[in-house]
Amino acid sequence: MPFMVGLCMSLAYFGTSPDAGQLIAMFLKIVNAKKTIEIGVFTGYSLLLTALTIPDDGKITAIDVDRTKYEIGLPIIQKAGLSTKLTLSSHELYQFLMNCYKIMFYSIYVTLQPKNEGSFDFAFVDADKVNYWNYHERMMRLVKVGGIIIYDNTLWGGYVALPEEDVPEKKRAGRQSTIEFNNSISADLVLKYLMLQWVMAS
Ligand SMILES: C[S@@+](CC[C@H](N)C(=O)[O-])C[C@H]1O[C@@H](n2cnc3c(N)ncnc32)[C@H](O)[C@@H]1O
Repeated sequence: MPFMVGLCMSLAYFGTSPDAGQLIAMFLKIVNAKKTIEIGVFTGYSLLLTALTIPDDGKITAIDVDRTKYEIGLPIIQKAGLSTKLTLSSHELYQFLMNCYKIMFYSIYVTLQPKNEGSFDFAFVDADKVNYWNYHERMMRLVKVGGIIIYDNTLWGGYVALPEEDVPEKKRAGRQSTIEFNNSISADLVLKYLMLQWVMAS
């Protein structure tokens, strides 16, 4: 089964923080990742970091519902000469991933063809927390035995440790699903699971 790492980063906001990025790069190197998948691209910081870290013939499949933020970072990725390593998948692919679980491995999409089961070395999930378990089920199909899956912000900014009434209304769904996600992961004895707390110096 893949190894898993949960990153918990305070004040990193949307983009992955540079120090957490260095940790991700280290894990990419440890598994000698060549084929990776990322859910949650934003402006592409973690995507660029991954592209810079994996070998020249490596491939990254990246999924986000919003391509507009990626366009902001794209000139930098292009300037770095790395765009050939990237496949940015569309919203439609995301919907497909979410809705057609039973048949997704028979889809026309390269990522989801049967040959891709267990073929990814590394996954980084940094998107909507309420869907983490859905992503996890899919990543467990796609990532090979001995691969690494990283989930961002598995303490949900610390809210998982607070009573629900002390958590802002809009953060409660994420808090609850993150608690359930962490409980399910820690109960899975097949996985090797590590949760890191990452606090940025301000
Ligand atoms: C925290 S940002 C990702 C940061 C990025 N990994 C980086 O290093 O800069 C979260 C991203 O998840 C995307 N997102 C949110 N909900 C999503 C969904 N349901 N499916 C795919 N992407 C989603 C958002 O559009 C946003 O770009």
